[in-house]
Amino acid sequence: MNKHNHVPWWQRGVIYQIYPRSFQDTTENGIGDLNGIIQRLDYLNDGTPCSLGIDAIWISPFYPSPMADFGYDVSNYCDIHPMFGTLEIFDRLVAEAHRRDIKVIVDYVPNHTSDQHPWFIEASSSRTNPRRDWYIWRDPQPDGSPPNNWGSFFGGPAWTFHEPTGQYYMHQFLKEQPELNWRNPVVREAMFDVLRFWLDRGVDGFRMDVVGLILKDEQLRDNPPNPNAAHNLPENDIAGRFLMVHNMDQDEVHGIMREFRQLLDGYGQRNGRNYVAIGELWGPLDRWVRYYGEKGDGLHLPFNFRLMDEGEWNAQVMRQLVDDLERALPSFAWPNYVLGNHDRMRLATRFGGEKQARLAAMMLLTLRGTPTLYYGDEIGLENGRIPPEMLQDPQGINLGPERTRDVARTPMQWDITSFSGFSNVEPWLPVSPDYEKRNVAAQTAVSTSILNLHRRLLWLRHESDALSLGEYRPVDGNADCYNYWRAAGEEQLLIALNFSAERQFISVPGLGDGRILLSTHLDRTETIMGTFQLRPFEGLIIQPIIA
Ligand code: NOJ
Repeated sequence: MNKHNHVPWWQRGVIYQIYPRSFQDTTENGIGDLNGIIQRLDYLNDGTPCSLGIDAIWISPFYPSPMADFGYDVSNYCDIHPMFGTLEIFDRLVAEAHRRDIKVIVDYVPNHTSDQHPWFIEASSSRTNPRRDWYIWRDPQPDGSPPNNWGSFFGGPAWTFHEPTGQYYMHQFLKEQPELNWRNPVVREAMFDVLRFWLDRGVDGFRMDVVGLILKDEQLRDNPPNPNAAHNLPENDIAGRFLMVHNMDQDEVHGIMREFRQLLDGYGQRNGRNYVAIGELWGPLDRWVRYYGEKGDGLHLPFNFRLMDEGEWNAQVMRQLVDDLERALPSFAWPNYVLGNHDRMRLATRFGGEKQARLAAMMLLTLRGTPTLYYGDEIGLENGRIPPEMLQDPQGINLGPERTRDVARTPMQWDITSFSGFSNVEPWLPVSPDYEKRNVAAQTAVSTSILNLHRRLLWLRHESDALSLGEYRPVDGNADCYNYWRAAGEEQLLIALNFSAERQFISVPGLGDGRILLSTHLDRTETIMGTFQLRPFEGLIIQPIIA
């Protein structure tokens, strides 16, 4: 099946993110679970073009957790929350996924544990506890205030005073998420053991949560004020008022990235498998690119959020961002693109609606690099509508409802049965009101649906070396369109994306006659001769006809 056995799967493949609480409930508690994921594996990839056609799933945390941050507050790294299942069910999930050639990537949360993790309970029991130094503790300043001016991303200071032992501990998220001290070699070893535990259970890689935060300035110096801070920041948004200079992205962190990589490579050498290390990272391009490692010995894929975070949604900006990235990457580094996840607004809402979401899908799945697709984006899910009394996300609760991430975490919409086929009981977040039309079953039946567009794009990508591995060559010309070639050997494909609400006429140097392989509207396959037309927000994949 794979013509490129030398190319690791994560380079060729497409990753699909599952937020397990919201994918499929099988236990009738209104919360998704691992058995639910197993049930839906055929939808994701059954080996035929009737299925979506993704290559790997990344599952957000399913570990035991008090759920203060919906699983990103882990109280045991080596088990499964009973609400999600058991280790046996996890093993079955891996086996069932592998049977379908779907890789399994798990979330690894190295920066912080839950305050209910036994390590933190021990560490906070006394100043002399052997695990005290597993976390970051400091005395108050002489006036009793926190050790420095760092803020939490979820509002308030990054420090909470612990009365019984008279010191502050650090947390850049909730106070229920104390930060581990990665300068302590014993902590490193314990956290490497966590990776080994999941590798031994057969996973194919890790998505590493806020991995650029794990080392902080050794002296914990104050961050400088941010001269560009918005004027209307909520009063408790301390983090937003300072530049993130000392609390993240320290040079020494790359040593740990190398150690992660060595650990994975060691496993790979022993069993001939390819593992992937993906990191959640932000920051300017020149600093971000360093996470690949100086010699390609760092992370395989530092997540690239630029297309969703930086600049407007238009042809020029998108092209600029991609071209800048292509230029910045050393030859050993493989690009990747993300347009949605559980922390951002839904893609369809952010970019203006379904037409734009279709165009975004064509771009995401035809650029050079590994795409990550967020569950529900394939059916064009919009931001959920959450009544104020149902808001759950601590970020929204602390910093204002417009910052809530609940909108991107509503249940997957499968069909028109109870709660859209997600659950038999009321889900933890409401199903979107558009579920009767916007669901997998309904969209499967409509040949031109956005879901069928995703299927077509994904399977075309599978079959095409040009799309999955080929080189990228942008085309100059029309300011409202972003056009580029993808090419591998003899195979050449032109992608033309109209970001405007007007018709555009395109003529691309070097393109003679061509055949339309795919339109984002899924309603045309004609032959074009030299010049062609793009309807508003239409994208096309065109194969030149070689005479
Ligand atoms: C990033 C995760 O994506 C987000 O959901 C979480 O709240 C923070 N890291 C803290 O773990």
